[in-house]
Amino acid sequence: MAIYKANTSNILIAAEEIKCGGLVAFPTETVYGLGADGLNPIAVAKIFEAKNRPAFNPLILHISSLSQLHQVAEINNDRAKLLINKFWPGPLTLVLKKKDIVPDIVTAGSETVAVRMPNNKTALELIYNAGTPIAAPSANEFGKLSPTTAFHVQEQLKTKVKIILDDGKCDVGVESTIIQVTDKQIVLLRYGGLPVEEIESLINEKVLKRKETDLINSPGLLKSHYAPTIPIKFIDEINLKNHTNQKVGAILWNLNNYDFNFTKIKYLSSSGNIREAAANLFVYLHELENENLDLIVCEKINETGLGKAIMDRLQKAVNKYS
Ligand code: TXA
Ligand code: MG
Repeated sequence: MAIYKANTSNILIAAEEIKCGGLVAFPTETVYGLGADGLNPIAVAKIFEAKNRPAFNPLILHISSLSQLHQVAEINNDRAKLLINKFWPGPLTLVLKKKDIVPDIVTAGSETVAVRMPNNKTALELIYNAGTPIAAPSANEFGKLSPTTAFHVQEQLKTKVKIILDDGKCDVGVESTIIQVTDKQIVLLRYGGLPVEEIESLINEKVLKRKETDLINSPGLLKSHYAPTIPIKFIDEINLKNHTNQKVGAILWNLNNYDFNFTKIKYLSSSGNIREAAANLFVYLHELENENLDLIVCEKINETGLGKAIMDRLQKAVNKYS
């Protein structure tokens, strides 16, 4: 791993790394982010691996132009447009309806996507040259403080990221403010670098706190949020013989060791690659949901590295039906 001074040639090297599916830590005006190609699910899986997160959290897509915004999200809301005109680039993240192109691993399966345009020249050039929205959480290890210098990133992520673009200390130093704008209301999801009062005075409307609304938009919070609409069980916690007359779909690691006539089988990774498994999981849950099945069964997987986050998601889904 190396710290690269944020000049034009190094930004191009970093952009190339993003294009190739690698990770780059980069400055924004709020905190340093750990970025990957936001449209490449395997690249995004590497972020969770590097951060050592025990669960999948939805990530913010960082964009450098409004055309990229339209690529990833719907904005058919005048208040959202107003906020964008006034506060972008800047420390404001908007949660909007996602377009199909955004992989489920970015949104943790949610129909919404968080987007922001950072107010930092290095970040904007990196995104522009990578030619793709960059998915990035703060570049800290799980449970540690968000980094505001390249050195903080290096201390925490050590060997996990090849390139850290160094553009000095972050101007704002706290994360972006996150709001969700629906047709009916504007809801604050996280306090951050842009004061809520500034938002309220622009749109002439009160920003609601999450508890003042019925919106449930923090996917990680609910024990069973990640559940598909069809019952899902761990394969070793049921007796398959009791389901012979049903249409059963299976999510297996890479082999079928079961004496059962599954209607549909999805292998998480035929090559036994955990990143591929993480990227596939989100897609498979959605696909199986649309297969007209009575039941989905899934194998437990080894809880090391990314396996923890995968199991967390499966466990939350199973909890809903137990
Ligand atoms: O300033 C920032 O926002 C920094 C820099 C790097 O841009 N990024 C950052 O990302 O703080 P992260 O991953 O540490 O925090 C993003 C937050 C998470 O709490 C996540 O739950 C929320 O955004 N989030 C992301 N997508 C969401 C969605 N679709 N709905 C609701 N919340 C979402
Ligand atoms: Mg964070």
